[in-house]
Amino acid sequence: MTPQVLLSPKGPSVSEIVFGTWRLLDDDSRPSIKDTVERLELCLELGITTIDTAEIYGLYTVEAALGSAFKANPGLRDQFQIISKCGIDVPSEEKNSATLPHYNARADNLIRCTEKSLRLLNTDHLDILLVHRPDWLTSADNTGGGINQLMAEGKILHAGVSNYSPSQFDLLNDRLEQPLVTNQIEFSLLRTTPLDDGSLAQCELHHIHPMAWSPLGGGRLFDSSNDAATRIRKCMDGLRDKYDGADDGTLAFAWVMAHPSKPIAILGSNRLERIRSTARATKIKLEHQDWYALWEAAHGCPVP
Ligand SMILES: NC(=O)c1ccc[n+]([C@@H]2O[C@H](COP(=O)([O-])OP(=O)(O)OC[C@H]3O[C@@H](n4cnc5c(N)ncnc54)[C@H](OP(=O)(O)O)[C@@H]3O)[C@@H](O)[C@H]2O)c1
Repeated sequence: MTPQVLLSPKGPSVSEIVFGTWRLLDDDSRPSIKDTVERLELCLELGITTIDTAEIYGLYTVEAALGSAFKANPGLRDQFQIISKCGIDVPSEEKNSATLPHYNARADNLIRCTEKSLRLLNTDHLDILLVHRPDWLTSADNTGGGINQLMAEGKILHAGVSNYSPSQFDLLNDRLEQPLVTNQIEFSLLRTTPLDDGSLAQCELHHIHPMAWSPLGGGRLFDSSNDAATRIRKCMDGLRDKYDGADDGTLAFAWVMAHPSKPIAILGSNRLERIRSTARATKIKLEHQDWYALWEAAHGCPVP
């Protein structure tokens, strides 16, 4: 079973691997409520009890699909922790005042979007609300005021951020009544910047777990025209047997989760067999030099 961990010293408890829903409706045949429930029930069987979603996923349609699955299956929602995000507006029927994609982390927008998320998801609270992207034009006082209000009203139990730099994280944290519980960032063998830009170190400093999005580089790990991916997978040829026949995706998750900040990795596959194999990553403890061998393959050179 996928272990549970406290995301921050004050909670909440989440599963070490999270079910991501960015691509939930991407299949050629749009999944039915039954397909969605099947994926969610498999997650529960594997101990994956945390769902990551966002207002904007599926161009503002994924939250409603999840909500329909919860409505059709009373009791299902309460078995999960739900993370949702808001603060990205793109031109669409939903955001008819948006004439170009932009970020909006103003308090009134966060409050309005969260209330809509609750309605669509058929729930009375989000376990965690994340501000999806830093909005360069909104003050931390303003964003923080919205988060504080949502928390006081019990509409969100915890708050975090996504794609924030360490200094942006510190600034917003300073304006909150309850500290941020995570920073959800892109981190993988194909995006190693967080190892050196302070994001992972900051989470470790605050004893909070970062969340890693696109741990397979959004699937690029399997693109044979990608040189780094090809080197990484060649390196994995020599590791699979050593780690009980783990497949390449599972090894890539284990690589992400090996960092001492203990990233929570978000899986993005809709395929039942891949959800099942990925869950094995929590059991794999890569040896020190194997982790570095994969780093070296990713960069195409030895460590400096
Ligand atoms: N905060 C943010 O800004 C942000 C941004 C992006 C994503 N996210 C979150 O992170 C989650 C995960 O991101 P992600 O979907 O990019 O994760 P990912 O695991 O890096 O990529 C998933 C993609 O890889 C493909 N894939 C997996 N195994 C494969 C294999 N063996 N061969 C070929 N293709 C394979 C999947 O296709 P199949 O479905 O066919 O398996 C899927 O299209 C999202 O769902 C979302 O919740 C957050």
